[in-house]
Amino acid sequence: MKDGRFLTLGIESSCDETAAAVLADGRTVLSNIISSQIAIHTRYGGVVPEIASRKHLTDVNHVIEEALTEAGVGLDEIDLIAVTHGPGLIGALVIGVAAAKALSLATGKPLVGVNHMYGHVSSNFISYPALEPPFLSLVVSGGHTNLVRMEDYTRCTVLGSTRDDAVGEAYDKVARVIGLGYPGGPKIDKAAAEGDPEAIRFKRVYLEKDSYDFSFSGIKTAVLNYVNTERQAGREVSVPDVAAGFQEAVVEVLVEKAVEAAHSLGEKRLVLAGGVAANSRLRTALSERCKREGIALFLPEKVLCTDNAAMIACAGYYKYKAEGPDDLTLDAFADLPF
Ligand code: KG4
Ligand code: ZN
Repeated sequence: MKDGRFLTLGIESSCDETAAAVLADGRTVLSNIISSQIAIHTRYGGVVPEIASRKHLTDVNHVIEEALTEAGVGLDEIDLIAVTHGPGLIGALVIGVAAAKALSLATGKPLVGVNHMYGHVSSNFISYPALEPPFLSLVVSGGHTNLVRMEDYTRCTVLGSTRDDAVGEAYDKVARVIGLGYPGGPKIDKAAAEGDPEAIRFKRVYLEKDSYDFSFSGIKTAVLNYVNTERQAGREVSVPDVAAGFQEAVVEVLVEKAVEAAHSLGEKRLVLAGGVAANSRLRTALSERCKREGIALFLPEKVLCTDNAAMIACAGYYKYKAEGPDDLTLDAFADLPF
């Protein structure tokens, strides 16, 4: 406690960012430190799990110290330690979980394990201090694509999921195919801004009528086929046009499905979350469409879209309030359902 405020220390290490943050009363960010491993993994064209784990190990204590220093609080003033315990890369997750358990044991402070996906949704509670569940949420990240109804802070109903690739995964794979490399999402976002989204029309995959599931593996293959055919015919491939055409197809499906779900379920609020929520075209297309349809749209600040520990501290705060602490047997899980 500091000045009567409840302080949560959040720790995140599920993929390629080592992050720690301190939040007051669950929603006010006092510090949000992110140590990205992008520079290291770039030379391999993607995240190498073993290298990610080793880097988390060398960085985690420094990142936690920096988060406390920047927040101007001591460990003794922290009221709760919240850590991502899944889903994610198992070797990466265990580093954050071990650090959080060691801190909890040493200080006697309560510990809570957080589902990374609830963390992503919770980034909106930070960006919109008055936002409360229930609401409809479109969660789009590198590992997951889900349409969910958040019933309250710790429970949700999954309406639909991807049947193959996550949307962020499709961005990353297509980026590799067209030579943009890792990290694919932001690079396609940038390249697409220079291209013509109508120049190449890739098929939109909607699956069965009334299904809220997604499928993005077909478009990845379609892009690969297009690029190979053009190159074999000796024609030059316009990277910006391919990026824009791919992005338009993906964004159209996401927007259509989310709006359709909102209408048929009578939801008036749509909350976007996950790393792909940083995508400029998705943000614009969803904003325009929701405005026309009378749906209130919530978009987290870009820095809170991709992996960070502020969202984990926020989700951990609400989980602790609802369900109490976890004990020191807390484990990490590569797969952890929403
Ligand atoms: O949520 P996140 O940081 O990590 C996971 O939990 O997976 O999401 C990472 C994903 C990556 O696939 C990345 O390419 C994508 O989000 N991404 C983007 C953008 N920024 C990150 N995709 C499209 N446009 C962006 N601006
Ligand atoms: Zn994530």
